[in-house]
Amino acid sequence: MHILVLGSGAGGGVPQWNCNCPVCRAAWDGDPRVAPRTQSSIAVSADGNDWCLINCSPDLRQQIISNPQLHPRNPDEHGKRDTPIAAVMLTNADVDHVAGLLTLREKQSFNLFATGRILDVLAQNKIFDVLDPDCVTRTQFALGAATEVIPGLTVEAFAVPGKVALYLEDGADTQGGGLEIGGQSEDTIGLKFTFDNGAKSMFYIPGCAAMPDALADRIRGAELVLFDGTVWHDDEMIARRVGRKTGHRMGHMSMAGQGGSIAALAGLDIGRKVFIHINNTNPVLIEGTPEHEQVHAEGWELAYDGMELTL
Ligand code: MLT
Ligand code: MN
Ligand code: ZN
Repeated sequence: MHILVLGSGAGGGVPQWNCNCPVCRAAWDGDPRVAPRTQSSIAVSADGNDWCLINCSPDLRQQIISNPQLHPRNPDEHGKRDTPIAAVMLTNADVDHVAGLLTLREKQSFNLFATGRILDVLAQNKIFDVLDPDCVTRTQFALGAATEVIPGLTVEAFAVPGKVALYLEDGADTQGGGLEIGGQSEDTIGLKFTFDNGAKSMFYIPGCAAMPDALADRIRGAELVLFDGTVWHDDEMIARRVGRKTGHRMGHMSMAGQGGSIAALAGLDIGRKVFIHINNTNPVLIEGTPEHEQVHAEGWELAYDGMELTL
């Protein structure tokens, strides 16, 4: 199985267009300690020919240009219009995960897989009809069922603690609507890829608000886990004066601290642990900071754009 990291940043990327936080400022200034990052997405392939995109970031066009694996193939064999992208899967309906679907118009055939809930969100937003239904099939996958999304690549979806997309909150928390954070539903899912007849597994969980025991048991012993690396401290956006929300309020567990992901995934016997969807406020993005050093000392890697992982 081939895994290609198209984008490793959280919403906004690094640098974010309007941000002067320390990481973004360093990126604007060309500081070599900070690598620019596009918004999170990976491509997965069983054979290196057909690829499945997991999430479609607003940076998708640039990500395709930067990765030759996703360029149109030889016109003599594949014709005047071609793409190795055969399928797209979505893990939630956040802007940073669905806006890139608009880049995939131009009457190109592919299969779009998502939960019923996420397909409903797309259906309610007419702009996604630019994906011509004669070319793009929308297939609902049920949680818990294994789906072969491209030849040789079987995926199982499961709910993880999260929340609805920001633009669907409708002021639910302030107007007494009871916005649920950390609930498990079809709004936010993780994906398990299996191969070698189920002997090996890779998990993709770019958004996760908590680590209940059942989820820890599910990922225990996996060869590879790519996990939500949005924030280091829960309150770092507030502390850096670039936002009012905690990581938890946005549906993300922090890396550090007792309830953090570093502690939660320690001792789960996972072969390789990689943080992805890393927000530009996260100090791990500056090489040499204590946080950057600690992440590596704890046995984690930080995904970077163009990172290739093979299992
Ligand atoms: C998130 O990951 O929390 C979202 O992408 C935030 C957003 O929609 O801006
Ligand atoms: Mn996001
Ligand atoms: Zn920033």
